[in-house]
Amino acid sequence: MATTASIYRNGNYSKNSLITNNNKVERPPSVNSNPKNSLKSKSLRKSAPAALGAAKDDTGVPGRVRVAVRLRPRNAEEMVADADFADCVELQPEVKRLKLRKNNWDSDTYEFDELLTEFASQKRVYEVVAKPVVESVLDGYNGTVMAYGQTGTGKTYTLGRLGEEDTAARGIMVRAMEDILADVSLETNSVSISYLQLYMETIQDLLNPTNDNISIVEDPKSGDVSLPGASLVEIRNQQSFVELLRLGEAHRFAANTKLNAESSRSHAILMTSQML
Ligand SMILES: Nc1ncnc2c1ncn2[C@@H]1O[C@H](COP(=O)(O)OP(=O)(O)OP(=O)(O)O)[C@@H](O)[C@H]1O
Ligand SMILES: [Mg+2]
Repeated sequence: MATTASIYRNGNYSKNSLITNNNKVERPPSVNSNPKNSLKSKSLRKSAPAALGAAKDDTGVPGRVRVAVRLRPRNAEEMVADADFADCVELQPEVKRLKLRKNNWDSDTYEFDELLTEFASQKRVYEVVAKPVVESVLDGYNGTVMAYGQTGTGKTYTLGRLGEEDTAARGIMVRAMEDILADVSLETNSVSISYLQLYMETIQDLLNPTNDNISIVEDPKSGDVSLPGASLVEIRNQQSFVELLRLGEAHRFAANTKLNAESSRSHAILMTSQML
């Protein structure tokens, strides 16, 4: 059971970050056709070099797509069924490879930029996967963190946990905003968020659910993408951000699936922007 996160930094200097949650491995969504702003993902290459994106290496601008895989621990049902992933999944952390065994004589090997085992903490996942993107955003680039994977693999857990009872459980969205707020002064700058869900081909505003058919508009000259009509709410402090996330989560379309009793069903998109 694995969630995969794509991490993308591009060269567009406007301080936006996008955190999305997508439950289809085969066809990740694309917000527009312009590579500057689209949600990027790459199909994995078997035994291929780690450079999965089109552009330069970690030090280059624009940054390339980086892909990490996180395995989650077995859940209670899998324990009862005595499911053993070790039979079919073999991690090779030293070479950042994951081997999927089809049977005793056949396997496929995939190479990732980062490999996070079932013992990886939320803190480590944030630091490896999202912190570099947040730092780029604070340097003035657009950045995207996207999680994709089958239902029940841990996308919401990885991105969306608020961790109010247990701070160690905080997910990427909460940790990212903590780092953003630690870096900017709200007296001279402003930080705003939009929180949306993509469901059945329409975009709804999770901060104002009556706003349920938001269009995507692309500026023909600059290629910039905007979502006119989406609420843009200014963040006063971390607590006000967490409250907005909770409000948005309550408006998300959710239904159980065979594999996940608390399945999100929709794709959630959190956008933050900083005005300096
Ligand atoms: N790393 C982890 N450690 C412990 N529990 C986890 C981990 N990842 C996921 N889980 C648990 O597994 C279950 C499914 O996770 P989650 O709801 O995040 O899946 P999802 O990918 O968002 O699924 P869906 O696409 O159906 O919304 C949840 O009960 C969650 O708490
Ligand atoms: Mg989910």
